[in-house]
Formats: sequence, C-alpha cells, structure tokens
Amino acid sequence: MNLARIAICDDEKEILRYLKKVLQPHGYAVDSYSDGQTLLDKLDADTLYAPDLLIQDINMPGINGIDVLKNVRERRPELPVVIMTAYGSIDSAVTTIKLGAYDYITKPFPKEKLLAVMEKALERETLLKENQLLKEELSNRSAPGEIIFTSSTYRDVYEMTLQVAASEANILIQGESGTGKELVARAIHFNSARREHRYLTINCAALTDTLLESQLFGHVRGAFTGAASAQKGLLAAADGGTLFLDEIGDMTLALQAKLLRVIQEREYTPVGSTESRTCNIRIVAATNKELEREVAEGRFREDLFYRINVITLKPPPLRERKEDIEPLARHFMVRYSARTKKQVIFLADDALRLMQDYHWPGNIRELENIIERAVILARSNRITPDLLPFRGSASAAIDFCCDNKDSLESIERYHILWILKKNAYHKSRAAEILGITRKTLDRKIADYGLTIPKGRSESC
Ligand SMILES: Nc1ncnc2c1ncn2[C@@H]1O[C@H](COP(=O)(O)OP(=O)(O)OP(=O)(O)O)[C@@H](O)[C@H]1O
Ligand SMILES: [Mg+2]
Repeated sequence: MNLARIAICDDEKEILRYLKKVLQPHGYAVDSYSDGQTLLDKLDADTLYAPDLLIQDINMPGINGIDVLKNVRERRPELPVVIMTAYGSIDSAVTTIKLGAYDYITKPFPKEKLLAVMEKALERETLLKENQLLKEELSNRSAPGEIIFTSSTYRDVYEMTLQVAASEANILIQGESGTGKELVARAIHFNSARREHRYLTINCAALTDTLLESQLFGHVRGAFTGAASAQKGLLAAADGGTLFLDEIGDMTLALQAKLLRVIQEREYTPVGSTESRTCNIRIVAATNKELEREVAEGRFREDLFYRINVITLKPPPLRERKEDIEPLARHFMVRYSARTKKQVIFLADDALRLMQDYHWPGNIRELENIIERAVILARSNRITPDLLPFRGSASAAIDFCCDNKDSLESIERYHILWILKKNAYHKSRAAEILGITRKTLDRKIADYGLTIPKGRSESC
C-alpha cells in the first residue's frame, strides 16, 4: 500500500478527475487544485502541509505554470514536481526542469507512464527527506544486539524486559553509564507489537533546549532563523513505533511539560505552529540519574516521573554481577577478533582474575573497550594480564577511559599513556618498550596532547 500524498494542479477538471481515479486505487492520497493560486494559498496557510509530490500543468489561466513552479520552489524547496505539458510545448517543459522540476510528461500519457515517473520521483524524495534519519534508521532496523549474561541478577532484568515489551507501558531504564540501557531499550522495541514501525532515539543531554524541541516536535517554515522549510519531528517520523529518550533527566522543565502532553493526550504542537498534531508513540526513557532525587529537588516534574515510570528496569552495574564478566569478555573477544581478522580466543586465568577484581566504573562499555584494546595489542591468540590496563592489582587500575567509537589512533594514544604511567613516566624506557625512538615518542606526546605530571618528564 502506497501512502504518499500527491497534490495535483490543473485547470482541466476532467484531468483532475481522471488522475484521482487512476491514483487512488494505488493507495495515493490525492489533493486537487484547479488553479495555481489556490495551491499557493494552501501552502502559505498551512505551513505544515507537506505533500510528497506535486503534479502540475503548465498552461493555466491566472498564474501560469512556470510562475506556480517558481513560487512552489520558494515555499517548499524539497517538494518534487512533475510537469504535465501538452504536446508541442517541450520548450517550456525544458524551462521547468531548469527551474528545478523533477521531470515532465507530455499529454496525453498512458497511466503506466505517469505511475512510473511518479514512483521514481517519490523514491528520490524519500531518500532526500529521510537522509537525516537514514543512518540511524538502517542501524535501528537491524536486530537488537545480543544480550549476554549468566547471572541471576541480570536474568531478572532480562525476563522483565521481555515481559513488559509486549505491553504498551512507558518504561524507564535506570542504570549507571555503560550498563546496557540502550540495548534494553532496543530489546523492548523489537519484542513489541511495534517492531514493524520505527525505533528512533534522541539524546536529551546532547542538544540545546530549542534544538531538542524542534527535533522532537518538528517545526514550521520560518519558525526560527535557518528554518527555511517545514520539518517533521521525531514524533511524526516514529509514529506507530518507539521513541527512546536517552538521558531524560537532562530535559528542561519547560520541555518536560510538553512531553507530558504527548504522553497524556497524545498531542503536541510543532515549533512555530498554532495547530496541534496527534501521535501514537511509545516512550522508553533512560537515565543514569536518580530521578526520585531530581523530583525531590524540583528539577524533574513529579507528574511526568510517574507517567514514564510505569515500569522501571534497572540493569545492575557489572561489579554486582561478576559472573557475567567472563561470558561478556569472551563475547567481545570473538567480536573484535573478527573485526581485526585475528583469533584471540583464549583468556588466561590470571587475566580473568584481574578483571574480576576490578570495580568497573564504566561497566560493560569499559569492559568492551578493554577487550578491544587487548585484542588489537595481542601478539598471540591469548589475552594475558600484560594486555590489560591494570597494574598488578586491579584496585590500582590505571585510569583508562575511551569510548567504543575509538580509532586506532586513540588506542595508540591510550597505549602510550599506559606505558608511560607503568614506567613512572620514564620516557627513554617507555620509548624502548614501545619500539620507537625517544624523539618519536616526544613527537607523539606533543601530537596527542599527553600531559606528563610535573617533575616527572624532566627527570626522565
Ligand atoms: N548484556 C550485554 N551483552 C552484550 N553486550 C552488552 C550488554 N550490555 C551492554 N552491552 C554493550 O555495551 C556497550 C554499552 O551499552 P549501552 O550503550 O547500551 O549502555 P548505556 O547504559 O546506554 O550507556 P550510557 O549510559 O553511557 O549511554 C554497548 O556496546 C552494548 O552493546
Ligand atoms: Mg546509552
């Protein structure tokens, strides 16, 4: 079923009737305009009106087709336009292409020809329109990541996740950084009845208030400087699906009030508009803050808290489920061996012991990073203690922080820092271990902006 909305502008009533008859059975919604002015008035009056395609005639009384096209291009630069032209006016058809029309067809045309042109135009339009969301969409359409665990602590969370996924309840996931909150959110969506619809995510801490609002609710043309055209928000894009609001504790009180309306009344107003829209969205939110405390201290609305907190899932920190360290480490060894075309498949007992003694402030993300690094550095097929960034005992673990988007360069940076730390910042010794000259080490220290504690570098 095709759900595109097609606007048609032609002064011949016969043509309008004919096109409607041809297009509707294909599932297109059709809006007919018998002159250019009516169409332009509609575009001006309803700034959120966004048909997916315009099919328009050239020779029309009143404003002629060329001027209609120019005006439409100004008002909706992203709207693809297919021109219908009478046989013999190819020249003006070519002019319309120069003005940005997508294609033209000469009347009379068989309906198959029209449908084929439309399909191509719509395909291109969809690609352009969704360009922003495309990357996210592609990764989100894929199956949720595999959730690895053996501990009974995590089993409870996992079973609860599957159980609540089937419901329509809004869910709050509360847990420390790196405990797998996003993984749980995806599992909820892909195990719910909404799985055929979109799962979109937004990080409330990463955007300014204004940007977050327009991303969520969309905006009308001219709503703020730079808003050259109307833009659908995530609520509209994910309609029927799930919206994951990451770091919801960072949302301002003003926006919290608007989100409450979405949840309570399924309504919102795009930025700059006076018209409300409706939506059908399931909200899954995550936070690493104690929202109860935020409520007590007046930073989070109590009513919103109860609305999103119908069910809370709390993935426990890794230090509270040490049994999971080994299966997770092995899981990441397989993943990063495949990525680096290596076969680091053995985990030395003493290396595992070191990991089990560690307190994992960065939780599973930190474990993943440490294994990735160890696999990259491994010279055999085994992970041994020297490949781990712990010094002797894990309680003296060296600060090691990186995120899972690390490039080889940043791994190198961490490795240099680690070797320097391990050798009390003795540069010559570190250079020797790293297999580079002292001069190269100095250059890398400068390039990577590494800081050597005062009083150390001079003495080395
Ligand atoms: N049980 C698990 N099994 C396999 N991989 C996991 C598991 N839990 C987390 N991960 C992996 O660990 C990494 C961090 O997880 P995720 O991004 O879901 O954490 P988060 O709680 O959202 O972190 P943050 O608060 O920093 O956003 C991801 O790469 C994820 O795939
Ligand atoms: Mg996250």
